[in-house]
Amino acid sequence: MKKINNFLPNQYKLTEKLPINHNYLREQFRNSNKIFHEIKMLNFNTDYTLGKKVNSVEKKFAKITNCKYAIGVGSGTDAITLSLKSLGIKSGDEVITPSYTFYATVGAIVQAGAKPVFVDISDDLNIDISKIEKSITPKTKAIVPVHWSGQICDMKNIRKIAKKNKLFIVEDACHAIKATRDNYKAGKYSDSACFSMHPLKNLNVWGDGGFIVTNSKKLYENLLLIRNHGLINRDTCKVFAGNSRLDTIQAIVADNLLRKLNNITSKRIRNAKIFDKELSKISEINIPKRFKNSQHVFHIYVIKVKKRDKLKSYLISKGIDAKIHYPVPMHLQPAAKKYKYRKGDFPHSESVCKNVISLPVHEFITKKQLMYTINCIKNFYKK
Ligand SMILES: Cc1ncc(COP(=O)(O)O)c(C=O)c1O
Repeated sequence: MKKINNFLPNQYKLTEKLPINHNYLREQFRNSNKIFHEIKMLNFNTDYTLGKKVNSVEKKFAKITNCKYAIGVGSGTDAITLSLKSLGIKSGDEVITPSYTFYATVGAIVQAGAKPVFVDISDDLNIDISKIEKSITPKTKAIVPVHWSGQICDMKNIRKIAKKNKLFIVEDACHAIKATRDNYKAGKYSDSACFSMHPLKNLNVWGDGGFIVTNSKKLYENLLLIRNHGLINRDTCKVFAGNSRLDTIQAIVADNLLRKLNNITSKRIRNAKIFDKELSKISEINIPKRFKNSQHVFHIYVIKVKKRDKLKSYLISKGIDAKIHYPVPMHLQPAAKKYKYRKGDFPHSESVCKNVISLPVHEFITKKQLMYTINCIKNFYKK
C-alpha cells in the first residue's frame, strides 16, 4: 500500500506559481484587520465554542437561505452526516445519490451507517431524476441530491418522488449558496440543506465549517443536540453523540464574508456568462445545460471538452490553473468496491469524468484574465 500523506497543505504548491489561479485566498484576506480585531476581542469574552457570534451568524444564514433555522457545524460533510443521522438513517438503510459528486457526499452517507445507491447524472451534471425511481428498493430511506457547481436540481420533482415513496431529502448544497431555481433556494423542498464553508467555497472560513438549514423544528432541535454531545445541559446527555460545533473564530470570518457574498456571487456569475458566451462558439466544447429560470452561482466553472488532458497541460503551460473536478466517478472508486458496481453502469458520469475541465471563475479573475483564458483555449483548438 502507498504511504498515506496529509496532502492538503501541499495541494496548491504548483498552482501558486500560476498567475490565473483557482486559489484566491491571499487576495481575499489581504486586509484582514477587522477580522483580527474581532478575534482579539474574543480573547476577552472567551466564548470560543458556540459563542454569541455563532448564534448571530446562524440567524443571518437562515435569513439568506429563506429557512426557519440554521445550525453551524464543523464542515459540509458533517452537515450531511448529522442531517441523515437526525432523520434516523441507520445501518441497513439505502440512500440515493448521484455517481458524479465529491467524495464527501458519499462519505457522509456511509458515516451515517447507510449504503449509498448511485444514480447517473444528466446534461446539467446533476442527478438524472428520471432514473431515481428505478433505484428505489424497500430499504431506500432518503435521497441526497447534489447541486453540482452551484446549479440547483429540479427539487420540485425530486420532492414528488420522495413524497410518493416516503423518503427523506437531504440536499448537498455545498456548492450552492445563494443559488435559486424558479425563485426557490436549497432548503425549500427538503428536510434539510447542507452547506460547506471550506476555504475555497463561495462563502468560506479560515479552516473548516458548515451549515445545515431546515424548516423543521423537530429536526432543528435534534441537530442542536447531536452537534454537541447530545447534551441538554452540562450534566444531562439525552443521546450519546459527537462534537461538530462551529468555532466562534470561524463564525467571525463567515460573518465578515457574508457582507461580501452578493458581490462574490455576482462577479462569479458575470465571469461565467462571459465564458459561456465565448466558449459556446468553439465546437470542441460542450457547456452543461443551464436553466433560464435559475441562478447558477458557479462555485466552479465546469465544461466538457475534447482532448481534455492535452488542453489542461496546455492551459497550465500558459499560466492558467485548469483543474479536473473529478476524474473518477464514485462507483469506480476503490472505496466503492464492496458495492459491486462496474464500469459502464453510469455512462454519463463516466463520460463526464473523462471530459470535464474547470477554469478559474472566482471574483478576483479580471476581464483581461478571462479573455486571455478564452483566447488560449481558442488557440489550442486551432492548432
Ligand atoms: C459536493 C460537495 N459536498 C460536500 C462537500 C464537503 O464539504 P466540506 O469540505 O466542508 O466537508 C464538498 C466539499 O468540497 C463538496 O464539494
